[in-house]
Amino acid sequence: MYYTKQELSNNINDILKNKNIEINFLSKNVNETKWLAFNISKMLKKNDIVVLNGELGSGKTAFMQGVSKFFNLEDQICSPTFTIVNEYSTPLGYPIYHFDVYRLENEIDFIDQIGTDYFQNGICFIEWGNIIKKILPENTIYIDIAKDKEEYDTRHIHIWRK
Ligand SMILES: Nc1ncnc2c1ncn2[C@@H]1O[C@H](COP(=O)(O)OP(=O)(O)OP(=O)(O)O)[C@@H](O)[C@H]1O
Ligand SMILES: [Mg+2]
Repeated sequence: MYYTKQELSNNINDILKNKNIEINFLSKNVNETKWLAFNISKMLKKNDIVVLNGELGSGKTAFMQGVSKFFNLEDQICSPTFTIVNEYSTPLGYPIYHFDVYRLENEIDFIDQIGTDYFQNGICFIEWGNIIKKILPENTIYIDIAKDKEEYDTRHIHIWRK
């Protein structure tokens, strides 16, 4: 069952305030993925962690562009591939951290090289977060993006929290 844009616009508050989240969304183009990201961003607060999983080119960074639009971050958000984490200051009183852990082997690398202090200091977005899933807190929101097999610009986006 997929939510429509209309349903998500009207109910996103209710959907995301619950501990358990289950959203399926069919994104028809990159702008719909950014739109979804923008709307989810409205509901986020300090200590929230959002993990983005999906194959190369599925749209994790595109999702982050919708996030950056909502929070008025720098125009050009790019994957912090070489630094692992980029920090963006916001007017909220806490920063946004954008991780790309693609180059890490596992959670031990993450603890050694980065540490988990970030999790308490702002809102964290983690591309390829499944690599470190053993150390992700219970409240983590998971966003899985899958390319459609036929339609080049279609993505199946599954958002969940247990
Ligand atoms: N519905 C869609 N949602 C998101 N991106 C889309 C969609 N349709 C087409 N695209 C295109 O797919 C590409 C997604 O690239 P993006 O860099 O966001 O992927 P990624 O998941 O971050 O990849 P990587 O793992 O290499 O960092 C972009 O060129 C984007 O324009
Ligand atoms: Mg990326």
